[in-house]
Amino acid sequence: MSQATVRAGVNIALVKYWGKRDAAANLPAVGSISLTLDGLYTQTTVCFDAALSRDVFTLDDTQRDDPRVVEVLDAVRQAAGEIRFARITSENHVPTAAGLASSASGMAALGLASWAAAGLPTDDPGRNQPLVDLIRRGSGSAPRSLLGGLVELDRDTGQVQQLTAPNDWPLCMVVAVIGRGEKKVKSRPGMQLTRDTSPYYTAWVESQPLDLTAARQAIAARDLPHLGAIMERSTLRMHACMLGADPPLRYLSGRTLDVLDAVQAARAQGLAAWCTMDAGPHVKTLCHPTDAEAVARVVRAVQGIEAVRICPAGQGAQVLPA
Ligand code: PMV
Repeated sequence: MSQATVRAGVNIALVKYWGKRDAAANLPAVGSISLTLDGLYTQTTVCFDAALSRDVFTLDDTQRDDPRVVEVLDAVRQAAGEIRFARITSENHVPTAAGLASSASGMAALGLASWAAAGLPTDDPGRNQPLVDLIRRGSGSAPRSLLGGLVELDRDTGQVQQLTAPNDWPLCMVVAVIGRGEKKVKSRPGMQLTRDTSPYYTAWVESQPLDLTAARQAIAARDLPHLGAIMERSTLRMHACMLGADPPLRYLSGRTLDVLDAVQAARAQGLAAWCTMDAGPHVKTLCHPTDAEAVARVVRAVQGIEAVRICPAGQGAQVLPA
């Protein structure tokens, strides 16, 4: 086969990753745990074609030059002994590059689709370490989108492991979209700036293993209040570390804090819901699926929210039937 299409869901970290211990291999300074979502995804088709004289990448109907895409394709060509260039057509069913993890779903979809189109094996992609490593080079959090449900990415080995399948423990994220602009500082330079200038960076890296251990225990016990509290704490510690950079790195907006206030107030009234934010202003609220509508009502009541999406836990990246 020389063409394949892959759909990969966005993943949102509960225990956050920020910082690299090896920039060249794009290895993380900390481990992380995420939830893969249904409903926000990237779909990518890769077709190797002897008529092409270079790789042609189209994202949402616009042709782009992206060296990371060519890097992935070069690595796949080398692994497969493929000499043809490729046409890559990608659709983001998620706002692009605004801190909604579109680079993770995008890289997972691109990596797996290129791998499949080159005829390399794609069964059990989360255990295919050369594929995982290739995808991680493009985006540090992307290998987590290869698997569904709750997924851990190991700091030391770079391996991904599913902790719970989507149906083992039904969870939901209510995604509040706040603004649609591209983010000001992309994660890669943002991480480097934080490591080089934030006095809180060492404390962030050193405290992470405790959060990972606590989160694993909460997941094993299916203890949502405990997991939610760890997630909110990990989020705010990550942002505290970014805010300590010079110049400060502030991805959160006033509206972000308004949503956080609204969810925390609803929680004080008994709603089981906890917030997380990444390298952008959007707020993702973790809850049980039966509370998702109530959470969405709370979030929609906040002024200036562009859109609210209820996203249940989703499957890992899939090669779609031809
Ligand atoms: O995948 P990257 O390198 O763009 O990093 C993403 C980092 C965060 O989204 C902020 C946190 C995480 O663990 O996903």
